[in-house]
Amino acid sequence: MIPLEEEIRQLKKEKNAVILAHYYVPDCVQAIADEVGDSFYLAKKAKDSKASLIVFAGVSFMGESACMLNPDKKVCMPDLTADCAMAHMASEEKIKHMRDMYDDLAVVCYINSTAALKMLSDVCVTSSNAVGIVRALPNQHIYFIPDGNLGAFVKAQVPEKDIILNDGFCPVHQQMTIQDVTAAKAEHPGAQLLVHPECPAEVADAADFVGSTAEIIEFAGKSEAESFIIGTEDGVLHELNKRNPNKHFYPLKKMQQCADMKKVTLEKVRDCLKYESGQITVPSDVCRLAVKPLEKMLEMAK
Ligand code: 13P
Ligand code: SF4
Repeated sequence: MIPLEEEIRQLKKEKNAVILAHYYVPDCVQAIADEVGDSFYLAKKAKDSKASLIVFAGVSFMGESACMLNPDKKVCMPDLTADCAMAHMASEEKIKHMRDMYDDLAVVCYINSTAALKMLSDVCVTSSNAVGIVRALPNQHIYFIPDGNLGAFVKAQVPEKDIILNDGFCPVHQQMTIQDVTAAKAEHPGAQLLVHPECPAEVADAADFVGSTAEIIEFAGKSEAESFIIGTEDGVLHELNKRNPNKHFYPLKKMQQCADMKKVTLEKVRDCLKYESGQITVPSDVCRLAVKPLEKMLEMAK
């Protein structure tokens, strides 16, 4: 019997497939992927991919976005039940109500959202480009969905706009508290604190750096510090340790894990490639509208 990794490599070649993986999926899946990145990087890679088959190792909004951005390609996911809880945490009625309230409203939608929410939005953002895109919009009133923490982070950076927050959150990052920060700093004196903007505001305020997964990895690589406390999902530790063997990385708290990202296993990646199972489809009427804010994000982030 050939090892699983070898079987995956052979299948990839045979099928002219590419594996895109997010930094939160298990280490072994990141290790066999062709591209590993944050949400923005992966969206760009999916759009530009020339492969016949895209296997997206991540959660459903990522596969859905890949499918909408590259409709001629077959996009499959190793586990179709891997979903992002926050992606559903905004209400269509509330969006309509906000549009009735403000004539110049822009609905800014974090990419961690369903296609049904994107359909009702003006522009998508990721954690790496949200501040720049919101600042560049001509609108004074912004309704930021679904993440209240990323929204609050953007609001603090763009005080000249009226940014209305929604109450969605990431269940993984929401659990990180200022008490965890105090405890981790006491345990690792001198370590820099690097956190994701999905963390609560008081955690972000205490950090030395706030950014997307890819930005955290880049910051740690350039920093003069030798040790770091990491306030995001544990999956980023794989790339941090790989790139910086002489630096030390400590999770802000124990078990910072997204159960959905961890559903992606090597066996499921192999089956996905072999049987081309787990195909993502988006109804054409939904795709036609939901792809617009995604395309606008890619344009504005250039
Ligand atoms: P990034 O865009 O920083 O990779 O974030 C994705 C995500 O799901 C964070 O919880
Ligand atoms: Fe969604 Fe949070 Fe998991 Fe990211 S870590 S995919 S925001 S539930």
